[in-house]
Amino acid sequence: MRAVTVHPSTARSLEVRDVPEPVRGEGELLVDGLAVGICGTDKEIAAGEYGWAPPGEDRLVLGHESLGRVREAPAGSGFGAGDLVVGVVRRPDPEPCGACARGEFDMCRNGRYTERGIKERHGYASRSWTVESDYAVKLAPALERVGMLLEPASVVAKAWEQVERIGARSWFEPHRVLITGAGPIGLLAALLGVQRGLETHVLDRVASGPKPDLVAGLGATYHSGSVDQVAPSIRPDVVIEATGAGTVVLDVMAGTAQYGIVCLTGVSPRGQRLSVEAGTLNRELVLENDVVVGSVNANLRHYRQGADALARAEPAWLERMITRRVPLERAAEAFTSRDDDIKVVIDLE
Ligand code: BGC
Repeated sequence: MRAVTVHPSTARSLEVRDVPEPVRGEGELLVDGLAVGICGTDKEIAAGEYGWAPPGEDRLVLGHESLGRVREAPAGSGFGAGDLVVGVVRRPDPEPCGACARGEFDMCRNGRYTERGIKERHGYASRSWTVESDYAVKLAPALERVGMLLEPASVVAKAWEQVERIGARSWFEPHRVLITGAGPIGLLAALLGVQRGLETHVLDRVASGPKPDLVAGLGATYHSGSVDQVAPSIRPDVVIEATGAGTVVLDVMAGTAQYGIVCLTGVSPRGQRLSVEAGTLNRELVLENDVVVGSVNANLRHYRQGADALARAEPAWLERMITRRVPLERAAEAFTSRDDDIKVVIDLE
């Protein structure tokens, strides 16, 4: 069976090659892969900067933004042949820690969790794959072309949940959200902001290409320029930061309304150095009761929230987020960024 593989920690090791056919274990689904989405993490792994093969193996099958169709399912699992499914990325650590023991593996405390296609477990970028039925999420048939957006949508649903739970520590009726970065995470964060009835603003570097239209298509407002120009006129109650760029991160912290909540979702490269006027930034956070929170990954609750959000979205709008589809044998092309790329997917069929 063909799969997209890498030798973790080795740059330029990406290769579509034959790997053994998966064998369905007890309680597992056997799934025909339809597509996988490619994100910054996949590119980091392909560049040899992140990622771990399963213990005792050299190569890792990539792919954590999955979409497939069930071929075989165990009786009583709630799944049947033909169902559209997405596999969950993370699995609890073996101990398990208190969070993992409670199904909150996205909040793992000891870092010994594993992740499909990222950390010590093969991913979903293969012609077929298996997944425990407890770690599979069923999607509405209408999402057949775009269901690989569920994993990023789950990450965004978690981020929104964090914001709302933190907001609930006092009176909280947010009106305006600023999203920095109009990549897939930023655009999905905007979708969920609009679905919550918030005045939604999205800021990105580019002034042309598909991003402004996608934002307008949601009824949200697009801005290009810098945070320190844009944020003062918006005074956002909530910021979802999806660039991971050091200056943007610091500027949004300083640019919120009173009681502002900034949720950081962008994984930045290490080694960015900036000089910060720490006194003013600290004063703002303290005197405004502001919160800055980091958020990664998602548990099953967030996948379900993400699936609901996608089901409520305009399918044509979701499809416009997918700017390139690359066939499996040419998978390497998905790892080279092009202008105007938003979400690039590998077709597995
Ligand atoms: C994935 C997360 C994962 C994180 C760190 C992200 O790209 O979406 O599910 O936890 O990388 O490995």
